Amino acid sequence: MRLILLGAPGAGKGTQSEFLMKLFNIPIISTGNLLRENISKNTTLGQRAKEYMDEGKLVPDELIIELVKSRLEQGDCDNGMILDGFPRTIPQAIALDEMLDELEMAINYVLEVEVPDETIIERVSGRTVCSSCSASYHKVYNVEAVVGTCDKCEGELVQRNDDKEETVKKRLEVYHEQTSPLVGFYEKQGKLVHVDGVGLVNEVRERIKKALGVE
Ligand code: AP5
Repeated sequence: MRLILLGAPGAGKGTQSEFLMKLFNIPIISTGNLLRENISKNTTLGQRAKEYMDEGKLVPDELIIELVKSRLEQGDCDNGMILDGFPRTIPQAIALDEMLDELEMAINYVLEVEVPDETIIERVSGRTVCSSCSASYHKVYNVEAVVGTCDKCEGELVQRNDDKEETVKKRLEVYHEQTSPLVGFYEKQGKLVHVDGVGLVNEVRERIKKALGVE
């Protein structure tokens, strides 16, 4: 299964990708997590990406495309993968099609998780993430067992730098302007599947299973 998760910041892509990873036994490629890893290691890419991310803007296409290309070449995607947060622009989508052509692979589905902006702001302002494995939690909707500690790896839970309300509003604006045109792009390819992302995490999960025909 080769799957793209499309949706606004905070729509629940990261949360739902965890169960999809287990369901299909395939890796998650999250460009946001790859960029944050580069920032924490203080790489040249991380230093360049940080200024864009802190302002809620997209990192330039050429940097992201190179990052994904080298990630796909690691050889663990032969049975499939979940692309979380990539592509986010039409040039990235075109570059992805070219990369997959070269690898003789194709995307099966593009899953659009739809959540209204007001709900997004509530979700993101209550989010904490694991500083070690990047798992995502919420102060009300997805609470950890031991306060401040990741259930999966016992890492410390922290707030993301770009989860301040003003930055989230900017990220939503960028999503509507630069990423939402991908809906039409993938509709034309016959790969788009819509899922209502409002509701409990389990409810959304069941809708995704139904949409992918894996009930
Ligand atoms: P990235 O890390 O990809 O962030 P994002 O797309 O903005 O997505 P989020 O991680 O914020 O949200 P999510 O949909 O995964 O939601 P989650 O499951 O955590 O990108 C960050 C930045 O990196 C970008 O702004 C950009 O600068 C750069 N970047 C990354 N990729 C790029 C690219 N391709 N091109 C250029 N730049 C790029 O859920 C959110 C919260 O809600 C959590 O607290 C969760 O517990 C909770 N929650 C989830 N589901 C539910 C539910 N059903 N009900 C209630 N709460 C829920």
